[in-house]
Amino acid sequence: MSRRSFHSSLVAVVALTALMSLASCVAAPGNIPTHSTSPRPMSSTVPGPTPTPIPTFDSRALSIDDATSLWVVVDKVRSLQPASFVPPDLVLPSVPHISSSASSVMRAEAATALQSMFAAAAAEGSGAMQIQNAYRSFVVQTNTHNSLVRSLGEATADAQSARPGYSEHQTGLAVDIAASPSRCDIQACFGETPQGIWLAANAYRFGFVLRYPPDKSAVTGYVYEPWHYRYVGAALATELHESGPTTLEEFFELPGAPDYDDE
Ligand code: DAL
Ligand code: ZN
Repeated sequence: MSRRSFHSSLVAVVALTALMSLASCVAAPGNIPTHSTSPRPMSSTVPGPTPTPIPTFDSRALSIDDATSLWVVVDKVRSLQPASFVPPDLVLPSVPHISSSASSVMRAEAATALQSMFAAAAAEGSGAMQIQNAYRSFVVQTNTHNSLVRSLGEATADAQSARPGYSEHQTGLAVDIAASPSRCDIQACFGETPQGIWLAANAYRFGFVLRYPPDKSAVTGYVYEPWHYRYVGAALATELHESGPTTLEEFFELPGAPDYDDE
């Protein structure tokens, strides 16, 4: 082989080798490898389920002034408007009750929630519950309060019973709950019964709040009532449970209501 033709052959071999090397590096379109020696990074190239956005709680979603609102705040400085208010959709919950049927009705949404709560309480081992008392009209509240004033005097009665036009019971959203069989009915010791303990820990899940907690008389105007639950709906009840304040007055940054304005 001449020197010239040897050189030509060498150039051809080098060029061919370079071409083959280049071909092995560039994947042909549509020829994507199905296996990889390195792990596929967890990147946005793998679409995942779209996360459901958690709605932000809106503390102004409902009125706290309108007597028909599930969030209406009624206390010694916030009377019902009008004082003769009658709730629109009272029904008798399908649960046992101690007082008359007329005294055991509630707003429809609250009644349904109460049924679910009693069923869950029994299923979770707290023992059975019954309604001690729920709706009270202006006239019934007048009689209830007057009777207590006669037996206890006005100051003591006012610490336990609302004057007519100032009671949550008139909203159809409040319920006094008793154990079944009865034990510590309308007494502070109800809070130590299995039913009272379960309610204090779980009522929020069903939209109810313990309205008159211990140590909050200066805010609510009433002594501890572990039997008195107020329906506000699960969204607000859960927010109250998680945010710390234990009264509606504190949560909505309202003035405390230890006494009536004319006191
Ligand atoms: N016992 C509550 C305060 C009421 O009478 O409404
Ligand atoms: Zn009550």
